[in-house]
Amino acid sequence: MSTCPVPSTAVSGLLEHYVKKILAAPVYDLAVRTPLQVAPALSLLLDNQVLLKREDLQPTFSFKIRGAYNKLMQLSAEQKACGVITASAGNHAQGVALAARELGIKATIVMPCSTPELKVLGVRSRGAQAVLHGESFPFALAHALQLAEACGCTFVSPFDDPDVIAGQGTVGMEILRQQQGALDAIFVPVGGGGLIGGIAAYVKYLRPEVRIVGVEAEGSSCLLAALRAGERVVLPSVDGFADGTAVAQIGAYGFEICRDWVDDVITVSNDELCSAIKLIYDDTRSIVEPSGALAVAGIRRYVGQHRVRGQTLVAVNSGANINFDSLRHVAERAAAHSAS
Ligand SMILES: Cc1ncc(COP(=O)(O)O)c(C=O)c1O
Repeated sequence: MSTCPVPSTAVSGLLEHYVKKILAAPVYDLAVRTPLQVAPALSLLLDNQVLLKREDLQPTFSFKIRGAYNKLMQLSAEQKACGVITASAGNHAQGVALAARELGIKATIVMPCSTPELKVLGVRSRGAQAVLHGESFPFALAHALQLAEACGCTFVSPFDDPDVIAGQGTVGMEILRQQQGALDAIFVPVGGGGLIGGIAAYVKYLRPEVRIVGVEAEGSSCLLAALRAGERVVLPSVDGFADGTAVAQIGAYGFEICRDWVDDVITVSNDELCSAIKLIYDDTRSIVEPSGALAVAGIRRYVGQHRVRGQTLVAVNSGANINFDSLRHVAERAAAHSAS
């Protein structure tokens, strides 16, 4: 993990490559520039200025529309005519569905059978074909790859693709434009590493002193495992509570960036996620999904561990696609966590 290294030419060349792609990504045809808002109660609680990057306010209620649209825009006319196939834990699925509809591309999306219903409906209501397959993301992914090979369609990875990473990197570009003064660290939820890869590439190129901290759920910490092993590893099992980030292996492209440019990775428990969902609600009156609360849970852990005060810390509030029915469980666990 990096401690603000002096970049070698090859490594900074990688960042420059992504910065150019990020600057050229035409995401604003569909995505919106989301606000970067102070979270007053959270800031008071943690004695640091906490800013929330409100990606839950995107048209598909997560940042995933950025990478999906950028990727589809790069396809040739022939590829567009053939259609696309993807595998997704649900949020990329909705991004691809919306982007494909906008561009008149046929989309087939494979999701694990455990995908929350509103994510499946979000795909179907946008005109894409949703196929439910396998108990978790790796099974859905294998099936989608088979389908793509059989029909010769383009497979659109949810995270392991430079165009997807560049689309997600526009989040980092916006953060630097919106917060030009003090900025100590950006906390980023990690699933397959597309979001953190894009943000790290942009931010480390322009402001290398800003710490990039990845946050993973304890039950799916594939980036931490890869950094410790020095190579990408496949987790033997993955917990699905934070369904959006329940990935068994970090993507190759994201890992290429993260191994040099991510300063720290924090893992948090499911109860910490529930508690973070409540804290975000208290400040915004919006409810995020478990993966969407990773960054705030990570900030809380980080502040407790490192005893930092008076810093400016950004949390990427990455998504809000949570089934209404699961709110009771979230509220119960949040209450149990605050009592413990
Ligand atoms: C809400 C949410 N947050 C974070 C992530 C992590 O993104 P990535 O897979 O690019 O690491 C995802 C991935 O689907 C997500 O849905």
